[in-house]
Amino acid sequence: MKILITENEELASQKAASLLKQAVVEKPNAILGLATGGTMLSVYERLIGMYRLGGFSFENIMSFNLDEYVGVAEEHHASYRHYMNSNLFDHIDIQIKNTHLPNGNELNVEQNAKKYEKKIQGSSGIDLILLGIGKNGHIGFNEPTSSLASRTRVKTLTQSTRNQNLKYFDKIEDVPKYAVTMGLQTILDAKKCLLVATGAAKAQAVAKMVEGGVSASCPASILQHHEKTTIIIDKAAASKLKLLDYYENVHPNGEEVYF
Ligand code: GLP
Repeated sequence: MKILITENEELASQKAASLLKQAVVEKPNAILGLATGGTMLSVYERLIGMYRLGGFSFENIMSFNLDEYVGVAEEHHASYRHYMNSNLFDHIDIQIKNTHLPNGNELNVEQNAKKYEKKIQGSSGIDLILLGIGKNGHIGFNEPTSSLASRTRVKTLTQSTRNQNLKYFDKIEDVPKYAVTMGLQTILDAKKCLLVATGAAKAQAVAKMVEGGVSASCPASILQHHEKTTIIIDKAAASKLKLLDYYENVHPNGEEVYF
């Protein structure tokens, strides 16, 4: 794992956006795995800023999002399709037909989840997947005890995840109980992983992911098995890491050092 620790949230978002831009510049027809959540808002804001300065295009980029709620219409303000369109896709030249999210709004949701997995497997593979992390160590919506070998499927959300996502809905009864999510193995299949976490509320989950044992009780810890994972965290999210000095020594100020 490459651990890049930045002074603050702004610099973490800036770094993540730069790495996304780099992936697009290096491979204009790259396949990106994309994430939602509060952390990604400033990442996407910065990426849009970079795009507006010119010099690169998303015209031939394809994307697969990690997850989507079950039973929330695409047009609903809390759907992840709505999030992606309004916070990224509407502001760049990506072709909407090349953007994919799991379909959580049909009766045959399990079958659609399998189709989504097949579509990913039928592509040339996700070049870079962007990930956030839940306070309980989930990635996508792979809640604790998710199989480390899981593929895209329906997952039941924990009460704590539902409570955290209450802010996007009017009342707790409206927060979905289920979501469709890429599985942990689907995520591991990506050529590169890029996880971003900021703020003290994520410090515990980050410490378990980076320095704990690989365990389904912290699904993000599976990233220890990925050869090319970069973790971008600010100082607050890094505050519970035992080997903090080491990571800061290897990558001073969160800069990548090449030998
Ligand atoms: C949701 C998403 C995750 C995301 C997590 C953290 O549960 N399914 O992909 O990583 O939220 O979100 P936030 O960045 O708002 O803390």
